[in-house]
Amino acid sequence: MTDQVLSKSQYDDFRHFLEQSCGIVLGDNKHYLVTSRLNRLTQEFSFTNLGALLDALKKNNDGRLKERVIDAMTTNETSWFRDNYPFELMRENLLPDLARNKPSRLRIWSAACSTGQEPYSISMTVHEFQQKNPGMLTAPLEIVGTDISGTVLNIAKAAKYDELSIARGITEQRRSQYFTQVEGNRWQLIDKLRSPVRFTEINLLQSYTLLGRFDLIFCRNVLIYFSSDLKTDILTRMSQILNPGGYLILGGSESPTGYCRAFEMVRFPKGVVYRLKSS
Ligand SMILES: C[S@@+](CC[C@H](N)C(=O)[O-])C[C@H]1O[C@@H](n2cnc3c(N)ncnc32)[C@H](O)[C@@H]1O
Repeated sequence: MTDQVLSKSQYDDFRHFLEQSCGIVLGDNKHYLVTSRLNRLTQEFSFTNLGALLDALKKNNDGRLKERVIDAMTTNETSWFRDNYPFELMRENLLPDLARNKPSRLRIWSAACSTGQEPYSISMTVHEFQQKNPGMLTAPLEIVGTDISGTVLNIAKAAKYDELSIARGITEQRRSQYFTQVEGNRWQLIDKLRSPVRFTEINLLQSYTLLGRFDLIFCRNVLIYFSSDLKTDILTRMSQILNPGGYLILGGSESPTGYCRAFEMVRFPKGVVYRLKSS
C-alpha cells in the first residue's frame, strides 16, 4: 500500500483528537511526521486506508488503537539522573529539608515517568542519602511512577534495561552496586531499589485525587507539549496534592510562572525548584 497524505481537515481533526485525549498540541509543522506515523499504524492494524483508521479513532471503540496512536505521537525520551541537577538538589537541599520535619512517611510522585529511569533514579538518590546520613530520614518511602502509556509502564515495571540505556547516566560503580546481569546483555535493578516504587497508568488530564498527597513531585519534560490552559490546570491540581512545604521539580525549560501562583521559586546553587507557598 502506498503512503497517503492527510488532508488539511483530516490533520485538524486529528490534532483535536490528540489534544482532547492526552493534551499534546501539534503545530502546523508536524503534518509530515503525523502522516508518516499514522501510515505505519494503518498497515499495522490492517486498515484499508488512512481515512478508515481516522474513522475508527473517532468511533473510539478500540482502546488498543487509541493507545498505539498516542504512543506513536508522544516522545518517551528519558535517561538516568536526567540533567543531574534535580538529583543533586534532592540530595543536598530537599531531602535534608524534608527530613527536618520528621515526616511519618515520604511520598514522591514521578508524573509522566516513561520507562522508569526517573523514579528509579529518585529511589537511588534517597537510598544513597540514607546510607550517607544514617538515622536522618527513616520514614517509609513510597515513589509513585505514572504515565499515560501502558507500553512504557510495562518496561518500567520489569526494570530490565539494555547496555545502551544503562550507558545513559549509570556510572560503572552504580551498575555494579545496583544491577545484576540477566539474559543477554540486560541489567535488572535490584529489589531493594525497586520495592519503594509502584507504577500506575494516569493521564495527566484526569483526576489525581486517588494518588494521595506527596512531599515531592517530579513533572519533567511533559508540560512543554501542553497548551497554557492545560499547564495551569495541571499545576494547580498538583499544588492541591502537595503537602505543606512540598516541592515541585520541572524540566529545565519548564516553569509555573504565568500559569500557577501556588508555587514560589527557590534558587539553590545547582538549580531551581518550586515550593508550595504557605497559605
Ligand atoms: C519526554 S518523556 C519524559 C520522561 C521523564 N519525565 C524525563 O524527564 O526523563 C514524556 C512522557 O510523558 C508521557 N505523557 C504524554 N502525555 C501524557 C499525559 N497526558 N498524561 C501522562 N503522561 C503523558 C509520555 O508517554 C512520555 O512517557
